[in-house]
Order: sequence, then C-alpha cells, then structure tokens
Amino acid sequence: MARQGVIRRYRGWLPEIPDDAIATIGEGETPLVEALRISDRVGARLFLKFEGMNPTASFKDRGMTVAMSRAAATGSRACVCASTGNTAASAAAYAARAGIECFVVVPAGKIALGKAVQVLAHGARIVQIEGNFDAALKLSKRIADELGDVTLVNSVNPDRIEGQKTAAFEVAEALGDPPDALALPVGNAGNITSYWKGFCEWRGAGHADSAPLMLGFQAEGASPLVAGHDFESPETVASAIRIGSPASREGALSAARESGGLIESVTDGEILAAQELLAKEEGVFCEPASAAGIAGLIKLAGEGRGAEGTVVSVLTGHGLKDPDVILGRVQLPDPVPATFEAVAGRMEMSAR
Ligand code: F0G
Repeated sequence: MARQGVIRRYRGWLPEIPDDAIATIGEGETPLVEALRISDRVGARLFLKFEGMNPTASFKDRGMTVAMSRAAATGSRACVCASTGNTAASAAAYAARAGIECFVVVPAGKIALGKAVQVLAHGARIVQIEGNFDAALKLSKRIADELGDVTLVNSVNPDRIEGQKTAAFEVAEALGDPPDALALPVGNAGNITSYWKGFCEWRGAGHADSAPLMLGFQAEGASPLVAGHDFESPETVASAIRIGSPASREGALSAARESGGLIESVTDGEILAAQELLAKEEGVFCEPASAAGIAGLIKLAGEGRGAEGTVVSVLTGHGLKDPDVILGRVQLPDPVPATFEAVAGRMEMSAR
C-alpha cells in the first residue's frame, strides 16, 4: 500500500494513537537516491535521503503527524511552535488536517519565503517577533505552559522525536543494513537525536548488528555545539539552522559521542557550494541548510578524514522553499523576440 503515513507503517515503534485521531498526509517513504557523482568527491558510496519529498517538503512531517495526532487525541484546543520556517509549515498543515488551531512564532523577516507562504496558505496564525528563534522557543514554551490545552509541537515535545526516528528505519530497510555513517545538518538538534534513537532501537530489536557514525554539521555562524557555548546572535545563509541555543543539545552530543561520530561546522560558502553541486550534478534541489551534511562530507574528505563505506546524507528540506537564495546568485535573463534566430542566438549553439 502506498504512502500510509509513518504512524500506520511503524505503529509498534511509536506511542499509542487511536485510529480516529491519526492526522496523516502520507508522510515518509521518501526516496533514497544514490549520488553517483558526489560519491567520488566524498570517497564513499553516498546516498541522499531526500526528505524534501514529504507532504510539506521537509522532514518535520514525520514528527508532526505523531505530535498533532496525539494533540488531537488528548483534546488540545490549539498548538503552538517556534520556528525557523519548516516546523511552522508542517505544523500549519497537520493542524489543518487535525482540525486544531495553529499559532507559529517566528523571527520577523528571517524565514524563507516558501515557508511563510505555506503557513499562510494553511491558515495558521503567524506571530513575527522582534527576536531570534531562541527567543521564539522560550516564548512558545511559556505560552503552552500558561494558556492550558495548547500543545507545544517543537521537537522538545517527545512525540516529534518519536516520529522523526522513522527515517532511520527507512534508511536501514532500504539499504538492507544501517549505513556506515549518516551526515545531517544540526540546528535545534532534534533530528540528529531522532536518527540516533531510531538506529539504536533498530539494532536493539535485532534487525542489525551495527549503527552508523553520526556526523552532524552546523553552520559556522550558528555553531554552539562546536564552540561549546550558546551564540547570542547566530547568523548564516542557511536560515533553517540559524539557532544559537539548541534545545536538544544533550541528544546531539550523545549521538556523536556514542556513535563515534562528530559535530563540526561548515561555512556558508561551503553550504552554498554543496547545494549547487547537488542541484547541478545530481538533479536534487534542496534548501541551503539541507546541504550542510554534504558540505561536511566534502570537507572531511578534503582533509583526509573522509567517511568510509556506505554513507547517507539527509537532505532535510526542498529547495523550492527558499527561492531567494538562488535568485541572489542567478537571475532570469531578459526576454528575446519570438524568432528562431533570436532563440538560437541566445542558446549560443550552432547547427551540426
Ligand atoms: N534542516 C532543515 C531544512 C530544518 O528546517 C531544520 C530545522 C534542520 C535542518 C535542523 O534540524 O533543528 O532538528 O537540528 N528547522 C527547525 C524549524 C528549527 O523551525 O523549522 P534540527
């Protein structure tokens, strides 16, 4: 059966949810695409877990289906989240599905255009604050605590982590075994926590003997886990991971430590170069933050510390969410007359 959603697919691994409370849009079952060209650059057999193919075009949907279904099951009147954009877009869609009111608190002017449009399209209420993501998260927690019957759907809600761990199961199932390493971007650190939990449970259940090295990458200007202290004013072109005080820092640090992996940083230049490589050499268009894993793998290979064997990089969100980053680099050319000569002339290709 196609696209039944992660709750029905992985029911035994997830918190109990009554059938009539399941809010799904067919999330999960995303492609695992072999990266035929970038494999050479990273010196390993590289696969891309393209999470941009979820219903709202990011990995957040896996956790949101669980969090929102549970909110519906417990009779929440509304949900709230802080977001750099994708959590907001996902919450807006799943709240619409569940029939729950949705409020999203975001840093004013700092979320990518496509994500803001998603929130508006789904009819969620958007509160822009004059502050960053970290301030938005503090406020959202307080709103949920003090207003009552309002569910916080950020990844500090354990239901989000539970749902997101299903991506690890899919990767292990698709490859037959867990990969040797898994590379991904780290922002608020929920996703790396989820993958590690998923791989550990998979191994614990006897489906595999091993679990991958977890390789997490932050943007240099927003790399508190690398620096060992919070960033007051995080800055990066990868707006999705512009976070200075990750809520799940402990989960991220133990994933890296227990797996024998690492958490390092990559520059904005490295992130944008990786995004471009993915689009131009593999045909896969992801948003800037999503390319941080590939940027990291390329960097490690360049320093002679490359990951070996079978490696999966998680492309967390779709490139269409952030058109401005591309339009900042390349513009549509001016039109030409509708004649053969003009079109052929623009193509700069001669007949043969
Ligand atoms: N990639 C994308 C595209 C994201 O949107 C996020 C997080 C991450 C990576 C990092 O994941 O936070 O679990 O470490 N976005 C959140 C949001 C913060 O509000 O959409 P993480």
